[in-house]
Amino acid sequence: MTGRFIVFEGPDASGKTTQAIRVADRLGAVFTREPGGSRIGDHIRGLLLDPQYAEMSMRTEALLYAAGRAQHVDEVIRPALIDDLDVVCDRFIASSLAYQGVARGLGVDEVYALSHFATGGLLPDLVVLVQVPPEVSLARLSGRHDRIEQAGLDLFAEVSKAYEAFAAADPARWVVVDGTGPIDEVALQVDAALAERLP
Ligand code: TMP
Repeated sequence: MTGRFIVFEGPDASGKTTQAIRVADRLGAVFTREPGGSRIGDHIRGLLLDPQYAEMSMRTEALLYAAGRAQHVDEVIRPALIDDLDVVCDRFIASSLAYQGVARGLGVDEVYALSHFATGGLLPDLVVLVQVPPEVSLARLSGRHDRIEQAGLDLFAEVSKAYEAFAAADPARWVVVDGTGPIDEVALQVDAALAERLP
């Protein structure tokens, strides 16, 4: 595989999607996202984010994210990389580790094992963490609540802390930018990070 695989991660409403789309445009890369990214993945996304499924158990949630990821890697990401295309993905394994592994308390190792099976071991070349404090996530969401976001401020705080720890533990793969400022300011930081770090 020769294309570069770049992942954007961050708490809800961090602005990572805006940055990921912009970077994909600039690099002429394939842009994709999780949950979703494929026909099957989009169905799974609907199940995961629809507030009507409030009874969904945490294990079911983790398995559905992993199932969507398996389809996404097999159908979209790996073929593009093999085709020498760069891929920019909005969320990947670290989202499951932060949300299901840490915030939902399922355990990082257990959730990593699921994702490892799902992806066949594929890892990003670079993860850009667009970091915002939990209060910023909550303020930016103001009224727009899907099933996951309803879990609120505590969840955002745990997610944000988990991301920070992942980035600190693997500085060769992760770069952190401050997502609290205006889009253009964040974009400058992202571009500087990519210029320095992209393989
Ligand atoms: P989005 O807001 O980036 O589209 O993501 C939708 C929600 O899904 C968001 O609250 C984070 C959550 N999520 C997980 O909990 N685990 C995962 O593995 C992924 C990819 C997303």
